[in-house]
Amino acid sequence: MDSMHSRSANELLQAQVHLYNHIFNYINSMSLKCAVQLGIPDIIHNHGKPITLPELVSALGIHPTKTCFVYRFMRMLVFSGFFSTTKAPNAQEEGQEAYVLTSSSKLLVKDNPNCLTPFVNSLLKPDFVTLGHVLGDWFRGNEVTVFEKAHGMAFWEYNDRNPEFNQLFNEAMASDSQMMNLVIRDCKAIFEGVNSLVDVGGGNGSLARIISEAFPRMKCTVLEIPQVIANLEGTKNLNYVGGDMFQHVPAADAIILKLILHGWSDEECLKILKKCKEAISSKGKGGKVIVIDLVINEKKDEDELTETKLLFDMLMMYVTTGREKRRKNGKSYS
Ligand SMILES: C[S@@+](CC[C@H](N)C(=O)[O-])C[C@H]1O[C@@H](n2cnc3c(N)ncnc32)[C@H](O)[C@@H]1O
Repeated sequence: MDSMHSRSANELLQAQVHLYNHIFNYINSMSLKCAVQLGIPDIIHNHGKPITLPELVSALGIHPTKTCFVYRFMRMLVFSGFFSTTKAPNAQEEGQEAYVLTSSSKLLVKDNPNCLTPFVNSLLKPDFVTLGHVLGDWFRGNEVTVFEKAHGMAFWEYNDRNPEFNQLFNEAMASDSQMMNLVIRDCKAIFEGVNSLVDVGGGNGSLARIISEAFPRMKCTVLEIPQVIANLEGTKNLNYVGGDMFQHVPAADAIILKLILHGWSDEECLKILKKCKEAISSKGKGGKVIVIDLVINEKKDEDELTETKLLFDMLMMYVTTGREKRRKNGKSYS
């Protein structure tokens, strides 16, 4: 009887812990945002060796009376895996520790070509974070997207009217595309025989630039909403074309769609894909449409990756008419 009682008490406690951790999860996101705003990853990186708490407080330019708060803040971020601790260099006392970067916070250092700081700065802006507050109202209402419920207009219109927000969003997407540098090198075979390529909805051209540099003889074009590419200059084999992918996609041997189809409904995806098909028609059977998107595959993926993909899917539900596709029968996608 007693052990039954303690088992159910344990279960209850675990359930409460699970619940509380989810209630407070936003504190994790906001701590990450604050660490980036304070420039902590750069400070540790530039310090060149593990940094002690007093050194960090001094580098932050924070009043020493705040030291205990910085300690607690860093303790949380160490627990979350953004920093780790090691024995302090020249430690005077036993157990004196210092902070170092982890693989995750190395991705927040400005010198890193794969720096994802713009992604933090954009996706944790109140314009996005506020969407969660109206999710329930959106379910009951008539607006097409949660974004529209919160801001009274569709996401792309909001971008159009708020250049600063749009600029941050484009920088976020560009930082994500920088990662493609690693992928393109391993996927050279896909681009063999491709003399011309259009990156549809290619943002500020991060991915197209990587491809144009990896294949100097390939003519690369970024098709984008005119205001996104207004002040951008091309190179010898990269140019920008303003337009609407629902109306026309310039002719090429190959089309690339990175993080495009996940943002649109099936009907809208079909319209985009039809325009892509027309664009590659002159290449006959040699034409290609290359799609880079997330695919939910919880049977194969580790839980942490599945969580990332499900969170992206929720983001798509918040912001767009699209969704992350799911792998079906190991062959097709839905
Ligand atoms: C999620 S972002 C992806 C950007 C880029 N492909 C990447 O992965 O970094 C979607 C892009 O589609 C562009 N876009 C939206 N509607 C468009 C349209 N009708 N025609 C062309 N581009 C469009 C947006 O400006 C935005 O840059």
